[in-house]
Amino acid sequence: DTQEQLDDFQKRIDAGEKIEPKDWMPERYRQQLIRMMSQHAHSEIVGMLPEGNWITRAPSLKRKMVLLAKVQDEAGHGLYLYSATETLGVRRQKLVEDYLYGKAKYSSIFNYPTLTYADICVIGWLVDGAAIVNQTMLAKSSYGPYSRANLRICKEESFHKKQGYEMLAKMADGTPEQKKMAQDAVNRWWWPTLMMFGPHDTDSPNSAELIKWGVKTKTNDELRRHFVDRTVMEAEAIGITLPDPDLTYNEETGHWDFGDIPWDEFWSVVKGDGPMNRERMKARRKAYEDGAWVREAAMEHARKKKLREEK
Ligand code: 3HC
Repeated sequence: DTQEQLDDFQKRIDAGEKIEPKDWMPERYRQQLIRMMSQHAHSEIVGMLPEGNWITRAPSLKRKMVLLAKVQDEAGHGLYLYSATETLGVRRQKLVEDYLYGKAKYSSIFNYPTLTYADICVIGWLVDGAAIVNQTMLAKSSYGPYSRANLRICKEESFHKKQGYEMLAKMADGTPEQKKMAQDAVNRWWWPTLMMFGPHDTDSPNSAELIKWGVKTKTNDELRRHFVDRTVMEAEAIGITLPDPDLTYNEETGHWDFGDIPWDEFWSVVKGDGPMNRERMKARRKAYEDGAWVREAAMEHARKKKLREEK
């Protein structure tokens, strides 16, 4: 990369232009996008497991249909994101294998168990709510295919969040046992949800570069604060208490201050020692290995079709 190329590239970013797959880009920009977009894709796919676990036990036909649709949407998000990542010149198979047998990461949040149906409500409200805050920002990303994938994802996430919030509101307005279940699920998911936004800005090695290149347009802490601000009111409206005694409105900043995030827990989950990391990886590897025959059959079909066309 020459300095002139880098300067021209930076000018395009600063002017708000989108970078498209065939445009010149610094190798480091390409690598950063592959890292982040593939992590995002892996997260969507592994994210089907905690909820998929409850499809057969949904409390009514309506809830089962909603959950089925939502879990299918997550698969779709994973597929758009893998396709968008492939525009950077890397094959999907390599991305998936780096994740299943290598070191590629996926979101910490999917390494927690779903103990009751209230967890499904809370995943919709909090986890998808946090995903919307993060992905609305990413829909403005400088890389065209990533930005467009996130635009579409956010529309679907917004349905996911609403169904979760509506269910939780019903549960929080139900019998004492249902109220207790709802509150218990919020108590368990609150801190892991705040961790989804990543480490504090001071401990985030990638943020500065990603912001300079417009891949991220807001920092981890800015997004986390925005999420807390909007969630406090939503919790209050349905009679749910957020499990943080330090949560207080700060008149000066106009934002809610919150307590310390348990970062030791976050890093232990990121390193593979969370409550469900091993099970999640095992399930994903099994699905990949059990599906080998489908990939082989599709390749063979494509090979024969090409031969016929050439004749
Ligand atoms: N879980 C796992 N790893 C995380 C993490 C998290 N919640 N937050 C940060 N990390 C990792 C980073 O990947 C990085 O590791 P690496 O350099 O080895 O890749 C390291 O911790 C340091 O973090 P940084 O802040 O420097 O990393 P980034 O600047 O990339 O920011 C991010 C992290 C905010 C997660 C950003 O990458 C991002 O916005 N990614 C795209 C969105 C995404 O992946 N979302 C995952 C959830 S998907 C989802 O919610 C699906 C929905 O349907 C529920």
